[in-house]
Order: sequence, then structure tokens, then C-alpha cells
Amino acid sequence: MSVSDGPVVVESDLELPLLHRGKVRDVYEVDADTLLMVASDRVSAFDVVMDRPVPRKGEVLTLITAWWLKQLDGRVPHHLLAVDPDAVVARHPSLAASRDAWARRAMLVRRTQPVLVECVVRGYISGSAWKEYSASGTLAGEPLPRGLRESDQLDPPIFSPATKAARGDHDENITFEQTRSILGDALAERLREASLEIYAHGRDVAAGRDIILADTKFEFGHDADGTLRLIDEVLTPDSSRFWPREHYAPGRSQPSLDKQPIRDWLETLDDWNKRPPPPRLSDEVVAAASQRYLDVFRRLTGVHLDHFHAPLFGVDL
Ligand SMILES: Nc1ncnc2c1ncn2[C@@H]1O[C@H](COP(=O)(O)OP(=O)(O)OP(=O)(O)O)[C@@H](O)[C@H]1O
Ligand SMILES: [Mg+2]
Repeated sequence: MSVSDGPVVVESDLELPLLHRGKVRDVYEVDADTLLMVASDRVSAFDVVMDRPVPRKGEVLTLITAWWLKQLDGRVPHHLLAVDPDAVVARHPSLAASRDAWARRAMLVRRTQPVLVECVVRGYISGSAWKEYSASGTLAGEPLPRGLRESDQLDPPIFSPATKAARGDHDENITFEQTRSILGDALAERLREASLEIYAHGRDVAAGRDIILADTKFEFGHDADGTLRLIDEVLTPDSSRFWPREHYAPGRSQPSLDKQPIRDWLETLDDWNKRPPPPRLSDEVVAAASQRYLDVFRRLTGVHLDHFHAPLFGVDL
């Protein structure tokens, strides 16, 4: 079987305790300290999960995360234990039987107690930040210079945390003051410092590929020893806005390197209110979205997904 013949996965179904099924990821307990995070091919737009999967998407999200985390080794503690399927099986031989269902789309990670604040960093003003600024001249409650245009650069980048919404809700932006009172000063400041540092690394690497990392969201958690670790997906097209430099022009929203074909198509519909149930995606829209994920993978890592094998790229951890 060639790598590109892997199954399309809407919902994984492994014989392990399922701890959580999010919009995209299925999280299983492997043992008390270890989770298997399986990225499905589900796609959400406007926070609604679409009715058809996007082939290869789960693989792209998982392998991009692993590629970044390898670069962050030694800079920031993170949760990844193994992503190369052989390395995963070597640690947990019982996973060999279900290998085809998770290989390349799953990461074996250290289990943590997640910090309940999403650590957003914005280097450009877009999305909900643009909405807030347009309405009140602020971002995360702090005043910003007047006269910014949509998609203008924010220099220096701004830490703009959010509380994690319950299922079906949108995350809510909070001020740094609120973050301090939720988490305590010391943790709030560590999260801000770590988030800005990881963002800067991602921004610089992406810039070398003519990609603007407009903003991104990190999550952190405490492991059993109390170590604060970067968790979840990292600098993926689902957790970040990646803008191709060649199309960048402030004063409007930017096309992004991900599920833009789906968003664009949904915006053409007059009769969908952006709440479930979603409209049925056409074959063309699904194919275009899948191609986008393959394109962003290649543009970022420099390698076609079919030619990316974790050990060769030093991410066998
Ligand atoms: N190392 C880890 N330890 C514990 N939980 C983790 C770890 N890494 C990620 N998680 C959690 O796993 C879940 C991943 O699922 P997913 O992102 O699909 O759903 P979600 O964040 O709950 O909801 P949404 O669909 O809005 O993203 C998240 O709740 C995330 O906080
Ligand atoms: Mg999530």
C-alpha cells in the first residue's frame, strides 16, 4: 500500500478508552501517562463540522505538528513522545493491530492537565481581533494605535488569550489582566513569554517559505511531574492563519492556505445560517480543500506528503 492509499477517517474507532472527541481530533488513553491523539479528516468551518471529510487532512495536521515540535526540542518542553508508526508500536506493541487506522495521523503524547486558556498570538490583525479593533480600537482590551487597516502587521506581536469555549460555542477573548486572575501572575506570564517565543520561531521559518504566519493558537498543560508543556496541535493550518506572501495586501481579509475553498463556497450560500446542520460539500470543493492541505504541507516543509517519512526528517523522537 502506498502512503497515499491510507483510509479516509471520519471517526476513528480504536479499542482504547476514548477520552474526547473534538471537532477534529479523537483522543484515546493508552495508559495513565500517555494519550494517542488521532487527527481525523473532519473539517470545520465557522465552527461547524462539515458533512464530508477532507482526504489527507488528518495526516497533514499531525505531521506538520511533529515537524514543528522537533524544531522546538530543547527550546520548550512539549508533549510529543512518538509519531513515526514504528516508534509508536515499539513503545506500545498493542497498537500494532490497529496500525492502518492511525498511522501518520496519530501522535503518542504525554498526558497533561490542560491549562484552560488558549494562548493566541497575533502578528497581524484579522478575524475576531479585527472585529474588536473596529468596534472599540482595542485588542484583548488594550488600546492599539489608531488607523490600523484590516490585516495590518502588529509589531511587536500581541499575546491575546481566550477562554476555551464549551462545545458548539466560540472561544471568548479575554484580557491579560483576566488571564492573570484566572491562572495567577506567574503562570500567565510564563505562557505569554513561551507563546511569543514559539510564535517568533514559527513566523521566521514560515517567512523563509514566503508564508506570513498571521496568528496562531497554542495550548499548554502540566504533566504528572508538574512540568509545563506545549500540547495539542502546533502551528498547523487549523490552529493558525497562514497567508501566502504573494497575495498579501492590507485593507481587506486575506486568502489563506487552508480551508479557504470551503469558506469561500459557504459564503456564496444565501440560505445557510452558519449553524448545524452544514450544507453538503460538493466533490470539487472537497478536492480543492484536500489539495490545499497538501500544498501547504509541501510549501512549509519543502517535501511532498507522500515523501515525508518521520525518521528521514528527524521526527521519530
Ligand atoms: N498532551 C495533552 N494532554 C491532555 N490533553 C490534550 C493534550 N494535547 C491536546 N489535548 C486536548 O485534546 C483535545 C484535542 O481535541 P480537539 O482539538 O479536536 O477538540 P477541542 O479543542 O476540544 O475542541 P475544538 O473542536 O474546538 O478544537 C483538546 O481538548 C486539547 O486540549
Ligand atoms: Mg482544539
